[in-house]
Amino acid sequence: MNRPICIIGTGYVGMACMIGLAELGWTVHGYDISTDRIERLRHGQPPYREQGLQEALRHHVAHGRMHFFDSVAEAVRDTEIAIVAVGTPSHEDGSADVRALECVLAELSTIRFASWPTIVVRSTVPPGTCDRLAPLVERWGDLVYAPEFLREGSAVHDFLKPDRIIVGSRRPLIAVPYVRLFEALQKPVVFTSLCNAELVKGCSNAFLAMKITYANEVANLCDALGTHYDDVLRGMGYDPRIGSDFLRPGIGFGGPCFEKDVKSMRHTAIQLETSRELFSATLRVNERQPMRVIEALCAEIGSIEGAAIGVWGLAFKAGTDDIRHSLAVRIIEELAERGAVMTVYDPAVYVAPLPPGSRLVRSAVEATDADALVVLTDWPEFYGIDPFSFAHMLRRRVVIDGCNVLDARRIASAGLTYRGIGRPGTPSAAQLSYASAL
Ligand SMILES: NC(=O)c1ccc[n+]([C@@H]2O[C@H](COP(=O)([O-])OP(=O)(O)OC[C@H]3O[C@@H](n4cnc5c(N)ncnc54)[C@H](O)[C@@H]3O)[C@@H](O)[C@H]2O)c1
Repeated sequence: MNRPICIIGTGYVGMACMIGLAELGWTVHGYDISTDRIERLRHGQPPYREQGLQEALRHHVAHGRMHFFDSVAEAVRDTEIAIVAVGTPSHEDGSADVRALECVLAELSTIRFASWPTIVVRSTVPPGTCDRLAPLVERWGDLVYAPEFLREGSAVHDFLKPDRIIVGSRRPLIAVPYVRLFEALQKPVVFTSLCNAELVKGCSNAFLAMKITYANEVANLCDALGTHYDDVLRGMGYDPRIGSDFLRPGIGFGGPCFEKDVKSMRHTAIQLETSRELFSATLRVNERQPMRVIEALCAEIGSIEGAAIGVWGLAFKAGTDDIRHSLAVRIIEELAERGAVMTVYDPAVYVAPLPPGSRLVRSAVEATDADALVVLTDWPEFYGIDPFSFAHMLRRRVVIDGCNVLDARRIASAGLTYRGIGRPGTPSAAQLSYASAL
């Protein structure tokens, strides 16, 4: 019988690994420094909200495939592989804070194992980190670096359907037990060095962030030209060299990964005294992009001071309740600074620290008891809300769609002024009659 797999760190990545591996038939052990989190997981309560997560967790706990421990020594005992998925947030200077990872490796190095597990680092780390940390476990083993590419909102699905499996190690043989875990998936495997595997992850995220930023630059150009981005980016996306994924303008990229990973890549480039123009430009444009929503709002309602603003969306993207580094939060804070009060609705976020005077409400329509509405998360369900159900509640009759999720024509047909990003103003009469003729 196969020995269990241990996952250290039960956040978004750790939980996806645990459930994904349990689905593939492995017995998994989970450990987290947060004993409270472990206690809740034992009772089948996931640490965050994502479709299907709670059911999968309860199913695997009930069937004995998932076990949770509040001691790392207990969790790794008799396991074949220990996968480390702890957080690596940004320091002030943009470098990655890998202290949690160092701490875990130092702790593992003190354990007396009957049989040593393969240690796999799955957290995102700057190039050179695993080569630097390998001596911590050298006495009895070696490190494998295997980056994670999942997206929150479809984490387990992405874990089980990766495009590729990247494994870095000092010798390919060390990575073989880890690669065997995924044999059933039949995906391409790239064996490479530790540093290259770290670069694959960092450069992939920086590229995706840059692609979003490019779409935003195109949309801003469309706004200045008074034209709509939709056909432009759709037309570009059909070119397989470009591709349509991530070519959607909005308020910019937020969340726990893109910004921190681009900052980390830039910091590495600065340390190595090599060029970093694209990393820097990506961060600069993204810093400015949320202001587009505020500018559009000011253009429509004038002063923000004393305005009541309805907000749809708080999570950094649809499909998750994660508000870490959410640009929606940043925009809400900026609006509050300028004297607005907000009524905020998000289908997945039930608790959030909001500026004084602003509050979370339980329905999208309740949030529109305001002067204007802004949309800050790309939840598809917002598209389905009938604008006639709230048009009468919006006193200034203005909708600013920061995520371009609403149907501009339907909003306009309810007598509201619509502005998206790269979709300036209400559609023209010609556009409306063209649409109805189709
Ligand atoms: N969230 C994503 O979409 C995503 C995708 C790919 C890669 N990543 C990377 O994966 C890593 C984890 O990300 P996440 O979003 O799951 O983070 P997270 O903050 O959701 O989870 C990290 C977990 O590690 C635990 N932890 C911290 N220190 C610990 C220690 N010393 N021992 C044991 N547990 C400890 C925390 O309590 C927490 O539960 C990061 O490096 C991130 O950049 C994240």
